[in-house]
Amino acid sequence: MSSQISNLFTEVQLGALKLKNRFVVAPLTRQRTNPDDGVPNDLLVEYYTQRASFGLIITECSQISPLSNCFPGSAGIFSEEQVQGWKKVVDSVHSKGGLIMLQIWHCGRAVSLSQTGGKAPISSTDKPVPGKNYFANNEEYGKPERLTKEGIQQVINEFKQGAINAKRAGFDGVELHAANGYLVDQFLRDGVNDRTDEYGGSVENRSRFCLEVIDALISVFGSDRVAIRLSPTGRNNYMFDSDPMSLLQYLIPQLDSRGLAFIEVKRHGVNQWDDSSDGAKQIPTETFFEIMRKLCKGNLIANDNVSIEDMKNYLSNNICDAVSFGTLSISNPDLPERVQNGYEINYKVDRSTFFTQGAKGYTDYPLANKNI
Ligand SMILES: Cc1cc2nc3c(=O)[nH]c(=O)nc-3n(C[C@H](O)[C@H](O)[C@H](O)COP(=O)(O)O)c2cc1C
Repeated sequence: MSSQISNLFTEVQLGALKLKNRFVVAPLTRQRTNPDDGVPNDLLVEYYTQRASFGLIITECSQISPLSNCFPGSAGIFSEEQVQGWKKVVDSVHSKGGLIMLQIWHCGRAVSLSQTGGKAPISSTDKPVPGKNYFANNEEYGKPERLTKEGIQQVINEFKQGAINAKRAGFDGVELHAANGYLVDQFLRDGVNDRTDEYGGSVENRSRFCLEVIDALISVFGSDRVAIRLSPTGRNNYMFDSDPMSLLQYLIPQLDSRGLAFIEVKRHGVNQWDDSSDGAKQIPTETFFEIMRKLCKGNLIANDNVSIEDMKNYLSNNICDAVSFGTLSISNPDLPERVQNGYEINYKVDRSTFFTQGAKGYTDYPLANKNI
């Protein structure tokens, strides 16, 4: 094995988690539970267990309350049945030597009224997402209620309860979903956050909610089992920030000072959700991870359109500590083994089954080595 390849298979300590290699399953919503209850089922047990050879699995974004979900069929983390369902997933992944963190999440305003049963969504703002909701038959998004300070505290408590539940399910930690235009991101970025109180305006104020949630998660798991995902230039859910570098120059040192397990950064993407190139101009895609590395003193996971060649280069040059793969981990449940053994990588991913029900396009991608 060349030294560049072997770098991919060295252990790495991310907070309390010792990863056996540098491959991470990126968080991927797949909507495979019963939409009526969001309880992880046997299909999820099989899907996540298939990926236990990755150094770490980060789960699909998991909602902390019924109102906080815009993906029908996503697995939640607020009911006892969900906790017990996740426990089966976690136990099975652990039995195969894998590590698994829950991506904990609130969608905020990115939800339609048909999905909330007519209840107003919540956000930092009272302005709805301007586009149409793909996950609700292209309906309009609901007009959100601007969270009051009491409302903010209630959501923080829900995040904390979600973390308590995740701990009971046996997860190795939690990753706060602060990316892709969902609730935490709706506070972070000034394209949406139009508040005039201590949760809006300056970068310190816009970061306040995020850091309060992080502190609530730390109070449950300890800082070395808490992580965060950021997408400072992503345009999903019509997000924008006029000056992402200034936000990061404040937020990342704040996160670093807490000693988190890692920060996962998603650079501006090439997929249909990052539908404008504006973000890519703000922090150049080519040098995005180098810039993040300079800002971030702790562990860094790089995401979005990272090839295996890029991964070798990043790890050799200490640009990141691990790489998370989205689409490649869908079509290659055994990606680490494929790379290690020189097996063919499956680049053909079936997008039509990203958000459907059942095994098709979920658990039926073959393993290269059938004995694994
Ligand atoms: C089907 C699908 C579902 C996704 N669900 C989530 C999610 O639940 N949470 C999240 O943070 N990102 C989500 N993403 C974004 C991915 O984690 C990742 O950032 C994106 O696929 C880019 O990485 P890649 O180029 O390796 O695929 C999703 C992407 C896809 C394709």
